[in-house]
Amino acid sequence: MDWARRAVLVTGGASFIGSHLADTLVERGARVRIVDDLSSGRIENIRQHVDEGRVEFFQEDLTAPGVADRVVKGAEFVFHLAADHGGRGYVDLHQASCATNLMLDGMVFRAGHRAGVEKIVYASSGCVYPNYLQNDPSEILYLGEDKAGPPYDADNMYGWAKLMGEKTLRAYYQDWGMKSACCRYFTVYGPRGVENHAVIAMIARAFVKRNPFVVWGTGEQIRNWTYIDDIVRGTVLAAEKISDGTGINLGTMERVRVIDAAKEVLRYLGHEAPIELHPEMPTGPYNRVADNSLAKQLLDWQPEVSFMDGLHRTIDWYVASRQRDQVAVKLEEILTER
Ligand SMILES: NC(=O)c1ccc[n+]([C@@H]2O[C@H](COP(=O)([O-])OP(=O)(O)OC[C@H]3O[C@@H](n4cnc5c(N)ncnc54)[C@H](O)[C@@H]3O)[C@@H](O)[C@H]2O)c1
Repeated sequence: MDWARRAVLVTGGASFIGSHLADTLVERGARVRIVDDLSSGRIENIRQHVDEGRVEFFQEDLTAPGVADRVVKGAEFVFHLAADHGGRGYVDLHQASCATNLMLDGMVFRAGHRAGVEKIVYASSGCVYPNYLQNDPSEILYLGEDKAGPPYDADNMYGWAKLMGEKTLRAYYQDWGMKSACCRYFTVYGPRGVENHAVIAMIARAFVKRNPFVVWGTGEQIRNWTYIDDIVRGTVLAAEKISDGTGINLGTMERVRVIDAAKEVLRYLGHEAPIELHPEMPTGPYNRVADNSLAKQLLDWQPEVSFMDGLHRTIDWYVASRQRDQVAVKLEEILTER
C-alpha cells in the first residue's frame, strides 16, 4: 500500500514502539500526527520529526474530555498504542492504573467511529492469552490465536483490558462496519526500550555492574522476545491487510529461557558476577511463546531478527546512549515504574 500523504494518527507515538512506528510511517510519506501525554513516552524519541515539521505533536491526555474527538479528526488510519502499561513489574503491581485502559481504549474507539476513520490498528498483547495455559516451561507450547477464548484467564487487569479492547473492535466491525486490526505483540525489545521490561532490565543491571546479578523468577521462564523492527513491519502489514478486527500474533517462535538471556547479557558486556534468582519477584507466566503461522498466512510476515542478533544490537544501543552513574542511581525505581 502507498502510505504517501495518508493522514495517520499514532496515539502513544512518543513511546518505544510508537516512535519506531512513526519513523516508518514518516519514511513512507504519511502525514503523521502523534498524541501522547508523555506519562511514559519520551519527547526525545520523536523530537527530530517534530522539529523538522514531519510530525504534528499534541501533548494531551486522551481520557480528558474532548481530546480523543479532536485529535482523531481528519485521520484516515489510527494506530492506537497509548496505554497505561509497563513491563512485568509494572503490570503485576499497578492493577488499578492498567484498568484505566478500558476507558482510554473505549474513548479512542468511539472517537474513531464518530469521525469515520478508515481503520483502527490496535496494540494488543500476548497478555490476552489465558495464564493457566502457560505454567509449564517444559511443555513445547505455541499460543495460537484461537487460544484466547473461554475459559478466559487474561494476564492481570492489563491483559483483561487488551482483551476487552479487541472484543470492542470486533463488535464495532460486526455491528457498525468499522474496520480494525488487533496486533498481539509479544515482549518487544530493542533500542528506546525501557528498564521496566526484562531485556532492558538485564542489560541495565549488567551495565552498572550489579553483583550479585539478580534475575526475577527461577530463570526457567520461556519467552519469545521479538525485535522492534519486526514488530513495526508486522503492524504496518496488519494495517494494510486486516479489516475485520482479527487479533493476530506478532511474535517470534524462538523459545528463549530467561536464564540463558541473562548469561548472554553478562558475557557480551564482560561482567562476571554470580546470578541470584528471585522467584518471589514479579515473574509472569512460565511458558509464553507465540504461534505466528496466522501472521505468515495473512500478512506474509515473519520475524527476521534472531534473538542473539537483536540482543547484541540492543546492548550496543544501551551502552552508547546511557551514563553508568545515572542509571545506577535510579535503577531500582525504574524496574517497576513507568
Ligand atoms: N513493549 C511491549 O513488549 C508490549 C507488548 C505488548 C503490547 N504492548 C503495547 O504497545 C503499546 C506501546 O507500548 P511501549 O512498550 O512502546 O511503551 P509505553 O507503554 O510507554 O507506551 C504507551 C504510550 O502511551 C502514552 N499514554 C499513556 N496514557 C496516555 C493517555 N491517557 N493519553 C495520551 N497518551 C498516553 C505514554 O506516554 C506512552 O508513550 C502499548 O499499548 C502497550 O500496551 C507493548
